[in-house]
Amino acid sequence: MNFSTFVSQIGGKGANAWRLHSKADADRQNGEDVIVLSIGDPEFETPTKIVDKAVEQLRAGDTHYTGVSGRDELKDAIARNHLRLSGQRVGRENVIVLAGAQCALFCASMCIAGAGDEAITFDPMYATYEATIQASGAKLVTVPMNANNGFKPDLEALKAAITDRSRAIFLTTPHNPTGLVFGEKELRMVAELAMAHDLWVVSDEVYADLIFDGAHISIASLPGMAERTVTVSSLSKSRNMPGWRTGWAIGPSELIAHLNNLALCMLYGLPGFIQDAATLALNECADEPKRLTEVYRARRDLAVMRLNQIPGLRCTAPQAGMFVLCDVRGTGLTSDQFCWQLYDETGVAVLDAAGLGDCADGFFRMSYTTSKAKLTDACDRISRFCNSIMD
Ligand SMILES: Cc1ncc(COP(=O)(O)O)c(C=O)c1O
Repeated sequence: MNFSTFVSQIGGKGANAWRLHSKADADRQNGEDVIVLSIGDPEFETPTKIVDKAVEQLRAGDTHYTGVSGRDELKDAIARNHLRLSGQRVGRENVIVLAGAQCALFCASMCIAGAGDEAITFDPMYATYEATIQASGAKLVTVPMNANNGFKPDLEALKAAITDRSRAIFLTTPHNPTGLVFGEKELRMVAELAMAHDLWVVSDEVYADLIFDGAHISIASLPGMAERTVTVSSLSKSRNMPGWRTGWAIGPSELIAHLNNLALCMLYGLPGFIQDAATLALNECADEPKRLTEVYRARRDLAVMRLNQIPGLRCTAPQAGMFVLCDVRGTGLTSDQFCWQLYDETGVAVLDAAGLGDCADGFFRMSYTTSKAKLTDACDRISRFCNSIMD
């Protein structure tokens, strides 16, 4: 069969990383005794009043085409939410509603870089970045976050990675998979480099509302950065709404106009009943992230404590988000071997973090979006598995 050259740009390591997860998910649906910790899908339901609003709108016939960039009420709510999180004041012309942060990342990538360009991100990275960046035709350039240095971003390496072809830096803060929150000093350095080399910064902030230690800073709020930053976020994590596919991009109005053209030929707007429910989620469920942060903090503490008691494993507490990275090098297995053997023998699915970048080779990523009881069960199983291989 013949396909476009584009298909080779959207495959790769990141796509492969999901193989074990897909198997585990299928096994779970077939009723097998598996614990799926390979993805960050919150086990909580979307708050009832958000669901009620969507149903009410559906029943009222809100099933027609909507404006491509999103309803004004939703854009206003997104702008207010962004002001709260970042201190940056934006208007409707700076906001576009898209199908999740993923769609926003993809659209941004397509509109700011292309063939012959380079886009830089940190290694390890969120699994979709490789394809998201390469889809535009740009070359992915990675900068290490060194495991032996607590996955701190190597900013000297960032400086060295910038060439005449560089067009953008994809930044994730809080970061997935490391759980690192970029500090002011680090962000100022990224901003200085972006300004000195006329680069875009795509700032993925989906975990900005789920921070345990440290404070969120939006790079767009730093002097000179508003005109070169695309801030991407969504309701998936902060309101338990991953399946609603509701996210956005915030940036200079000229860029938003291009994103609008792309959305016109690719998405054509989000359903109206989802947009109205999303508006309510932002306006009336502002306390949900605080509640979730405390729940996840307790689960993070449990997971980190238990994993660190297991022979051969080591992990540090993530500052934010829903994942912990765990070093398996002490077991003598590669992270790929570890994940598959663990799954085959115990039914616990974790993600081989090597699929998220070379710097995370030897680590698995485990989500703690599930209950403490299930996490405890998973840790018991991991412990039995490690004891059996370390004998
Ligand atoms: C860093 C990061 N960016 C983007 C996304 C995609 O989020 P959404 O569900 O809003 O598309 C995720 C989802 O896990 C993520 O971890």
